[in-house]
Amino acid sequence: MPEITVSQLSQTFGSTKVLDEVDFTVPDGSFVTLLGPSGCGKTTTLMSIAGFHTPDTGTITHGDRVLYDAAGRNLPAEQRDLGIVFQSYALWPHLTVAQNVAFPLKIRRARRVDMERRVTDVLELVELVPRAGAYPHELSGGQQQRVALARALAHGPSALLTPPSLGLPLAGVYAVWLFVVIVLYPLCKKYDRYKSAHKEKWWLSYL
Ligand SMILES: Nc1ncnc2c1ncn2[C@@H]1O[C@H](COP(=O)(O)OP(=O)(O)O)[C@@H](O)[C@H]1O
Ligand SMILES: [Mg+2]
Repeated sequence: MPEITVSQLSQTFGSTKVLDEVDFTVPDGSFVTLLGPSGCGKTTTLMSIAGFHTPDTGTITHGDRVLYDAAGRNLPAEQRDLGIVFQSYALWPHLTVAQNVAFPLKIRRARRVDMERRVTDVLELVELVPRAGAYPHELSGGQQQRVALARALAHGPSALLTPPSLGLPLAGVYAVWLFVVIVLYPLCKKYDRYKSAHKEKWWLSYL
């Protein structure tokens, strides 16, 4: 996966500056999570990278391709080579599992035989081959989430963007929350003080 770089990304909604010159890099082959309180701008950042939201200013690059910059470059979402799993999954209710997963291939005009093979491959990956003909309302929440993941992977994107997993068991969410409050937040504060002391500009994606 080519590196994703976000620099000086800013967004104001009304009188609220939601993103204030955000800078970060997602290195090749890495897994990065944005963690922060509700309303701090995680989804706005993610949707700006995905191409579903146009920020006020800044630059977003993916490898040597400029996805967005304030000079007017703004690549359409379908040309960004990214896979996106939406928070509410956004599955089409009138399409079967296989048809939902095939959609990104269809809009890229893949050959029918390639499309069928690829759909089977990704459905195997998420263990949903037996439900290929089912409609989303016939699936459990976890299965719908796996369809959304399969659809995001279908066209072989070089990076995958996913919002928070609502499918985590509550105990898991609670454990993560405890980890953040007890371990990560104090660490971030310490890091914050360290960085301030060294007068470096920083932005931490709270993991
Ligand atoms: N299209 C919009 N118009 C106005 N305000 C918005 C819009 N999108 C998001 N916001 C506001 O921007 C802030 C950040 O939203 P969001 O990025 O969804 O936060 P997060 O994902 O971190 O919870 C919130 O206060 C939200 O109400
Ligand atoms: Mg959000």
